[in-house]
Parts: sequence; C-alpha cells; structure tokens
Amino acid sequence: VTQLSSPAAMRWLVTGSAGLLGTDLAGRLRSAGHDVLALRRADLDIRDARSVRAVIGRHRPDVVVNCAAWTDVDGAEDHEADALSINGAAVAAMAAACARQGCALVQVSTDAVFDGTAAEPYPEDASPAPVNAYGRSKLAGERAVLREHPGGGYVVRTAWLYGASGRSFAATMLRSAAGPGSVSVVADEVGQPTWAADAAEQIVRLVRAAAPPGIYHATNAGRASRLELAREIFALAGADPGRVLPVAAAAYPRAARRPAQVVLGQARWAAIGVEPMRHWRAALRRALPVLAAGTAGTGP
Ligand SMILES: NC(=O)c1ccc[n+]([C@@H]2O[C@H](COP(=O)([O-])OP(=O)(O)OC[C@H]3O[C@@H](n4cnc5c(N)ncnc54)[C@H](OP(=O)(O)O)[C@@H]3O)[C@@H](O)[C@H]2O)c1
Repeated sequence: VTQLSSPAAMRWLVTGSAGLLGTDLAGRLRSAGHDVLALRRADLDIRDARSVRAVIGRHRPDVVVNCAAWTDVDGAEDHEADALSINGAAVAAMAAACARQGCALVQVSTDAVFDGTAAEPYPEDASPAPVNAYGRSKLAGERAVLREHPGGGYVVRTAWLYGASGRSFAATMLRSAAGPGSVSVVADEVGQPTWAADAAEQIVRLVRAAAPPGIYHATNAGRASRLELAREIFALAGADPGRVLPVAAAAYPRAARRPAQVVLGQARWAAIGVEPMRHWRAALRRALPVLAAGTAGTGP
C-alpha cells in the first residue's frame, strides 16, 4: 500500500488544472498552503505517457489527482476512440507511473458509469453499466486505476458539477434567471448537483484520511431533477421559479443517451471516518455568489 507522508508536508500534482474541478482543487490546495504543481493541458497532455512519467519522477508527488478528461458527453458518441485515449489509455499509463513511483493516484470519475435504472442509491461497489460512449470511456479509466495501482489507486466519482470557472447547467440557469422570459428544463432526469469546491474538499479529506484505496462517491447529498435544480437557482437569485417550465427528456433528443436517475450512495465515508458531503441545497446557497461572480459579464 502506498505510504503517504504527513498531511502538512504532502506534495500534490493536479492535472487538468484549468478545468472546472481542477481550478477549484488547485486553488483549495494552494490556499491551504500545500505544495502543489498544477498542470493545465498546455503544460501536460496526459496522453503523452513519457512526459507524465517524467513529471512524476521529477516532482515526486505524494499524490496525483487527475482532473484532466474528455468531458464532452455528446461529442464522445462520434469520437469514442479519442475519448477512450484520454479517459482510458492515458489514465492506465498514469496509474502505472504512479504505482512505479510509489505515489497515490486519485482518478476523478462520474455517475455516468451507471445506467440510471435503479431507484435506490448506487453503492460504491454496484456494477457499472454505462449507457453512452463517455460513460464507457470513464469506466475504462476506473478499471485501469484499480488494475494498475491496487495499492494506491482511488476512484472518486462525482456528478453534475458547477463552480466558479467553466460551463455548467447551473451557471446557464443563473444567467437565464437574470434574463427575461421562460426556460424549458428537463423534468425526468435526476441526479446530484455538486459544488466543485465541495468535491475538491472531499478529495483532500479522503487523501488526508489515508483511507484504503478503491472507489468513493463525492457528490452533495440528496437528489434533484434538472427542473428542481433550475427552480432552486431561480428562487435563490430572486427570480420567479414559475418561469422554469418542465419538459420531458424525450423532447430534447441529444447525441448521447443520459441515464434517467443516478444517485450515488455514500456509505464508504462513514467507514473511513470522513464526514459525507452536505446537502446540495445547502451547497448551492453557499455557492451562488461565487457562481454569480463567475458568470458576470459573459452574456446569455
Ligand atoms: N462536470 C461535471 O458535471 C462532471 C460530472 C461527473 C464527473 N466529472 C468528472 O470530473 C473531472 C473534471 O471534469 P470537469 O468538469 O472539471 O471538466 P472540464 O472543465 O472539461 O475540465 C477537464 C480539463 O481537462 C483538460 N484536458 C482534456 N484533455 C486533456 C489531455 N489530453 N491532457 C491534459 N488535459 C486535458 C481540459 O482542457 P481543454 O479544455 O483545454 O480541453 C480541461 O481543462 C473529469 O474526470 C470528469 O469526467 C465531471
């Protein structure tokens, strides 16, 4: 099992650090005074296995958090091989490099590895069954980490992220709330809206707890349909939630199928003595000013 040094002296390497989650994680680590090397795509393309090995060898991190990914869910349908090379093959090589170096690897993954047919929360060890190419590519990455780095590989699944940087459904709804008229939102797709800052914090807590490697679920608690989330955002922004009109997912055909309802079970946190994440409504209330600052001036 990978031995982590004392939390205060820990060295972190974050890939994909300009993305939605990577930005919040790198910022959180820096402001907590950690030694962090944050690499954007322009600094390190994770498909370049030789460079990945070199940077890990040079920086000697205690933990690598891979926030780099192909995240275009619809685009993956027509470009599955490209998605797989980033979300699968590159992750396998990174996991092997971390195992060789003796550092932990946190691979960020997704609720989209599940088919969304279960009414109950999916436990961490539930059998994945992705319904789209993106989900298949992310599942390949999960399996690679558990296979290549069983002693120090963590798979942290999250869902429906929003944050200060990057595009998200929540940011789009906040802009709609500030504008005129009504907006139609899917009512029959259910998930867990999650503040990227909370997911980042949970990753830090997981690593600091020196928890056993394996699969963990980092989503804000509770569940919501897209419609409920949009209406909550309108209400918090002081707009009329009645301006958000329900539509069926079937009325909005997209390239990739979406799982209808995925709620991720959180039982493993208690087992390692880490608080599970707060309810999504509490997180959203706290996040709204941050989201608003991030969406200001970017137009509708
Ligand atoms: N957003 C969500 O709702 C959500 C939900 C569940 C799980 N996740 C997972 O959370 C993680 C972070 O996602 P995110 O929301 O932060 O996505 P994001 O904002 O799209 O960030 C991903 C980052 O990875 C970079 N990247 C893409 N290909 C790369 C490569 N070959 N080498 C290095 N960097 C590369 C991207 O750079 P460019 O922009 O320059 O391409 C981008 O900065 C991913 O693993 C994702 O699957 C996200």
